Amino acid sequence: MQHAHIPLIDLQAQYRSIQREVDAAIRRVVARGQFVLGPEGDALERELAAYCGTRHAVALASGTDALELSLRALGIGPGDEVVTTVFSFFATAEAIIAAGATPVFADIEPQSYTLDPEAAARAVTRRTKAIIPVHLYGHPCDMGRIAALARHRRLQVIEDCAQAIGATWRGRRVGGFGAAGCLSFYPSKNLGGYGDGGMVVTNDARLARALRLLRNHGGRQRYQHLVLGKNSRLDELQAAILRVKLRYLDRWNAARRRHAQRYAAALTRRGLRRAGLPKEQPGCRHVYHLYTIRSSARARLIRALGGQGIATQVAYPSTLAAQPALRPLRLRAGRFPVAERAAREVLALPMYPELTGRAIDRIARVVAQSA
Ligand SMILES: Cc1ncc(COP(=O)(O)O)c(C=O)c1O
Repeated sequence: MQHAHIPLIDLQAQYRSIQREVDAAIRRVVARGQFVLGPEGDALERELAAYCGTRHAVALASGTDALELSLRALGIGPGDEVVTTVFSFFATAEAIIAAGATPVFADIEPQSYTLDPEAAARAVTRRTKAIIPVHLYGHPCDMGRIAALARHRRLQVIEDCAQAIGATWRGRRVGGFGAAGCLSFYPSKNLGGYGDGGMVVTNDARLARALRLLRNHGGRQRYQHLVLGKNSRLDELQAAILRVKLRYLDRWNAARRRHAQRYAAALTRRGLRRAGLPKEQPGCRHVYHLYTIRSSARARLIRALGGQGIATQVAYPSTLAAQPALRPLRLRAGRFPVAERAAREVLALPMYPELTGRAIDRIARVVAQSA
């Protein structure tokens, strides 16, 4: 029997579930005729600052810009080092370099795939100005140990929350632990628009003001440019769509968590060792942007799942240190053994709020047969 295809995420199913509200939001913006910087963006900033528990929020054109402009607004640039995880999406490193600073990588913890605070401490030098923990796959970093390191070495903390909006560490949502929290609204994210978008949430009014300058060519009023900035504004259509979706975010994240529980139950029942499954660390609330298992037989798994019409994704097949674009940093293979092993073994299975229990059971069956 031919089985139905199971995608990695299903944005069409999500759209169908909120179509009336999204369509009304789009019509509202088009009828108003104000498309870049306006009431929708202002409202989204207020709503997301409240959601993340921060005093301010500045909407930008992407999560990558949120990272780069946070660094620049904090005065971090040429000659400065920024410590971050070696296992992330490329944008984390790219933004540091775009700001003119140098990324210094540290290895990850094997359970959560997030920055190992001890490895990060070893990477700090006299030049280090900031640390960027990445809440990878939706799992929060150990913010207690990272904040302690930052205090001790006087470093700014910039959280990369691109994959983790709504995740909590000790009951507090990510984004407000350091100087800046960077969000991405890339369509596949837990809160995704219908195009690119990003935001910085912060408790620092000066930082928010600096970001507002930087995102709009360094000016507050037309044709007067106080500093060199760029064009990094969120458009009103995206803001209006995101405001609709924000109302569903907690429900969707709760659905992701239920799906993760069902995966774990089905996979362990079928004999997959617990070691291969994602594990929420104490004090953490994971929001499962990706549901990532690990297996030394990954290639076989991908083939078996693909043969049954089940999509998978390897995030990420290599560490940042091994990226060709970062060759000038001259990082040797073997320096990041935990991340290097993860890059060989991780595999993301389908995960989205609209996924059904039956689909999860079917996926688990194929995984268990091929692992
Ligand atoms: C961990 C991480 N950081 C940064 C980004 C960059 O965000 P954007 O695509 O919105 O520029 C992404 C996602 O794309 C990401 O996953």
